[in-house]
Amino acid sequence: MSTRVLYLFICGAGSANHIIEMIALAHADGWSVHCVATPAAVEHFLDISALEEATGHQVRTTYSKPGDESLPSADGVIVAPATYNTINKWAAGSADTYALNQLAELTGLGLPIVVLPFVNQALAANRIFHQSVDELRQVGVRVLFGPGEFEPHPPRTGNQVLDTYPWALALKALNEQATA
Ligand SMILES: Cc1cc2nc3c(=O)[nH]c(=O)nc-3n(C[C@H](O)[C@H](O)[C@H](O)COP(=O)(O)O)c2cc1C
Repeated sequence: MSTRVLYLFICGAGSANHIIEMIALAHADGWSVHCVATPAAVEHFLDISALEEATGHQVRTTYSKPGDESLPSADGVIVAPATYNTINKWAAGSADTYALNQLAELTGLGLPIVVLPFVNQALAANRIFHQSVDELRQVGVRVLFGPGEFEPHPPRTGNQVLDTYPWALALKALNEQATA
């Protein structure tokens, strides 16, 4: 039976199409999964009904309305796939979407948070991206970026690397964060 509560933040990048794999791994690892999706993830990538069926919970895309399922407190947070946009905006303190606002709060609360980016080499070559990754790391967020973790692919090859996207690394890192 799942006991620990995972908030899974899903951004608008190609691997969001395979998010069911992340959910299955998290369930097998004993997590109850609650998804929070960015507007771009909803618009371009996700089948919300399929996600709700897979998790047994409403997918949160904005602030709750009367009648919505209330989110239980999280034991851990994974942001996967994490876009260039969300990583930069989160690190810069922007909170202009529900997902970014929640990430800001969860970071401030000191929850264990793991980020698995999905960015190509062109996006990752920007200095601001490295500054954002450093900023998030400095406040205690575990960003899986670099050798042996997420390594960017050449532009326009994202679809070729979906099968090797390291979802399982995110869970492993979260378990390490949660017991540290
Ligand atoms: C088909 C498609 C694929 C995309 N792939 C990526 C990607 O791999 N990585 C990325 O950072 N952004 C990607 N984007 C761009 C983001 O969706 C865009 O920057 C968006 O504003 C991200 O919003 P979010 O961070 O709130 O999810 C893609 C967009 C589309 C439509």
